[in-house]
Amino acid sequence: MERTFTGSRLDKDDASVASLATVMASTLSDRGGPAPEVSPAEFVAGVRRRIDARLEALLDEGARYTGGVAPDALPVLAAARDLTMRGGKRLRPAMLFAAIECVEPGAHPEAAADLGAALELLQTYLLIHDDWMDGDPVRRGAPSVHVLLERAFGDAHLGAATAILAGDLMGSMVHNVVGLLDLPVARRREVLKVFGRMEHEVILGQCLDVTRSPDIEKIHALKTGSYTVRGPLLLGAAVAGASPEAVASLEAYAHPLGLAFQLRDDVLGAFGSAAETGKPVGGDFREGKETLLLQHARATLSAGDVTTLNGLVGKRDASEAEVLHVRELVAASGAREVAEARITELRGQCLSALSAAAFHTRGRELLRAFATLLTDRSR
Ligand code: IPE
Ligand code: IPE
Ligand code: MG
Ligand code: MG
Repeated sequence: MERTFTGSRLDKDDASVASLATVMASTLSDRGGPAPEVSPAEFVAGVRRRIDARLEALLDEGARYTGGVAPDALPVLAAARDLTMRGGKRLRPAMLFAAIECVEPGAHPEAAADLGAALELLQTYLLIHDDWMDGDPVRRGAPSVHVLLERAFGDAHLGAATAILAGDLMGSMVHNVVGLLDLPVARRREVLKVFGRMEHEVILGQCLDVTRSPDIEKIHALKTGSYTVRGPLLLGAAVAGASPEAVASLEAYAHPLGLAFQLRDDVLGAFGSAAETGKPVGGDFREGKETLLLQHARATLSAGDVTTLNGLVGKRDASEAEVLHVRELVAASGAREVAEARITELRGQCLSALSAAAFHTRGRELLRAFATLLTDRSR
């Protein structure tokens, strides 16, 4: 299995960790309060270490089983492993652990670690399929799984077929982990219920995305907010046995943050660099992804500019100059400012929901820091 781009992976990881530390530090000093025993940045780093160790163990187990039953399928699993372990911010497990800190600090740490690893395996499964659907050849600073598998098997269709299966394999591992969580029965049932709904929603969101539904916020809530913020928080609530009031508070925090997270992703996709996103510049424009930025540009530019924009957006083989032209048209429409204003508004809603919530202090501080982290310009 080819393993390339190691340098860019490390650069990207170092940049993510550095920007995380900066955001966390400024969030804490903004408060002016005493530093907690473990800073949010250290908390996330600790979650990452635990989850990565759990992922390695689960993937080793998957490889042992596959090696015994169907060794010829090992490259498929290896490609999914490569994507899983090459980076990623591990935001979803961090959200899960923060929700537990809000409700019943330290509850069921082993089950929480398994569930956090399951969230990252779900992320691998979704990203593999998403990159093929979106025609994105690069993810986390290295080739997407369908590209790795196309190279491994020497054929584009086989690459796509085995990438679908690599995603499916991750999905089956997710269900093994979640179904067997070591939790009291009532909590495990609640986890299964939340997990099932979360998965259903993200798939519906992807359906609306690929069919270019015009309801952007609905797409964002379903395809992103569902499994990035709301689902992980409600899973933490289920592990910790949260009250209906605590669940409602987490939902009130989660909805605007999920929307703001995807908006930030779209702004970075349009205006950020490959080093910032780990993805090629202009990928969203070439893919023709429907975004708030494009909607605003179409609504405000002159008829001539809209015709030019529509001719270039969705053009898979657009040149760099054409991508740059789209970017300039979108910028000239004021779409970036509109998106930034919406992100600020959503972050405000999220933070005021948080201040109304009856959470343990430490959990609340973590969620406050995450609201900035997920929506920051240098995310
Ligand atoms: C990427 O999610 C997919 C979206 C929902 C926008 P992340 O930005 O959390 O990706 P990783 O896991 O850190 O790579
Ligand atoms: C990804 O959405 C959402 C899921 C993987 C479910 P996008 O397609 O908008 O995200 P990026 O830009 O590829 O990360
Ligand atoms: Mg995509
Ligand atoms: Mg997509």
